[in-house]
Amino acid sequence: MRATATAQPNIALIKYWGKRDSLRNLPAVGSISITLADLATTMCVEFDAALANDVLTINGSENEAMLARVSRCIDSVAGEDRKAARVSSNSNFPIAAGLASSASAFAALLVAADAALGKKDARSVLASLAGRASGSAARSLYGGFVELRNTAADIELVELCAAPDWPLEVVVAITALGPKAVGSTEAMEISRKTSPFYSRWIEQQAQDLDEARAAIAARDFARLAAVAEHNCLKMHSVMWGSRPPMIYWNSATLACMQTVRELQSQGVAVFFTIDAGPQLKAVCEPADEARVRDALENTTGVEDILSSGLGEGAKRIADE
Ligand code: DP6
Repeated sequence: MRATATAQPNIALIKYWGKRDSLRNLPAVGSISITLADLATTMCVEFDAALANDVLTINGSENEAMLARVSRCIDSVAGEDRKAARVSSNSNFPIAAGLASSASAFAALLVAADAALGKKDARSVLASLAGRASGSAARSLYGGFVELRNTAADIELVELCAAPDWPLEVVVAITALGPKAVGSTEAMEISRKTSPFYSRWIEQQAQDLDEARAAIAARDFARLAAVAEHNCLKMHSVMWGSRPPMIYWNSATLACMQTVRELQSQGVAVFFTIDAGPQLKAVCEPADEARVRDALENTTGVEDILSSGLGEGAKRIADE
């Protein structure tokens, strides 16, 4: 009753921000993301009748803070009347810093728990359960360009384009480490309740999704760049207009944005996106990766750089 799985974080190009049902964690809008290849969370789940309670270890240290969420997520696939589990999670990138570590963690957790139970649930079922744990986690079950559609009763995931069919690169500029001041779950509820821009955000999302889907189908980088930057800045405008306001950027985030604008003016195919944290993600064509990386590395305030191509969704791997 033990299995290991790995999953990669995903970066939303058309963002999920807001819930239509908090209890079932259903998003208020659809979203489109890209799944990374080289950043990963490996999760091992072992059910053990000798254990009194679930035990969670994250990067080698026992973790109490995330335990309740992890236990609930295991219940969703195993049922509440189950053996306790020993869960160990290891990520090769900073966690809780706006790099979607919860997405790769919950996606890997569901694949590992399902395999440890010998259940073999369909990927769509695991994606729907991952979405209950964290909305963005549903997308990490799939690879390449992934659309999360809001259907009447649930969510539905569609792989719009496999990773090898449009091999883009993502360069992540880390501008500050450490957990963010307000987590996404709480922040999007504050936006829903208080931001004067929230209703327009919801109304316009279908338009942005259509535009991004068309750009991906046509492999039209400039068209995707325009709608992704627009959607990102619109989400941050919703956050800035909330009470209290949520400003996740720091001065280095803005400096990185400026660097991307300069690269664009030199004809480099690159665009930025930023989630609920201060890191800037620059998406570019593989031929420009070194130049984008170099420019961001030399931007004031950048502490570290990670880069990755696009990869596959969550999958079971051999036990370590
Ligand atoms: C800004 O998926 O972390 O990264 O469902 O409450 O766990 P919960 O939220 P979460 O929110 C992600 C927000 C975002 C945009 C995105 O990934 O689409």
